[in-house]
Amino acid sequence: MSFDELFEEAVKASERSYSKYSGFSVGAALITADGRLYTGCNIENSSYSLTNCAERTAVFKAVSDGYTKFSAIAVAGSGSGDFSKPCYPCGACLQVLSEFCEDDFTVVLSDGTHKLSDFLPMRFSEESMK
Ligand code: THU
Repeated sequence: MSFDELFEEAVKASERSYSKYSGFSVGAALITADGRLYTGCNIENSSYSLTNCAERTAVFKAVSDGYTKFSAIAVAGSGSGDFSKPCYPCGACLQVLSEFCEDDFTVVLSDGTHKLSDFLPMRFSEESMK
């Protein structure tokens, strides 16, 4: 699957967004190392802080199915149906991705491809605790 197609999967996943409080729909499309596609959307809650972002939904779905190695994620977010503005992953999602992904992991946004290390050049990890 091309990065453009992966981004389109993220846009499609955003259609299932449960975002009645913010009105901002986010979709994520995650590719496992062996080529499986996992998608996720943001899931909000009346107790706002319990909201789960689209990226973490996709990662948790994959990990709970036994997949922990990934090659790329696409993220698409919009409050209007126009997905041309990049939706940068939040810090919590970057930290969750960093648990499973290396620095060169690909993040596909509407403005092109990035590496995980572009967003998170230094990270807290199990190495930090040794
Ligand atoms: N959101 C995501 O799904 N992913 C991010 O990386 C940033 C923010 C969601 C959370 C909330 O439902 C909405 O966007 C507005 O913050």
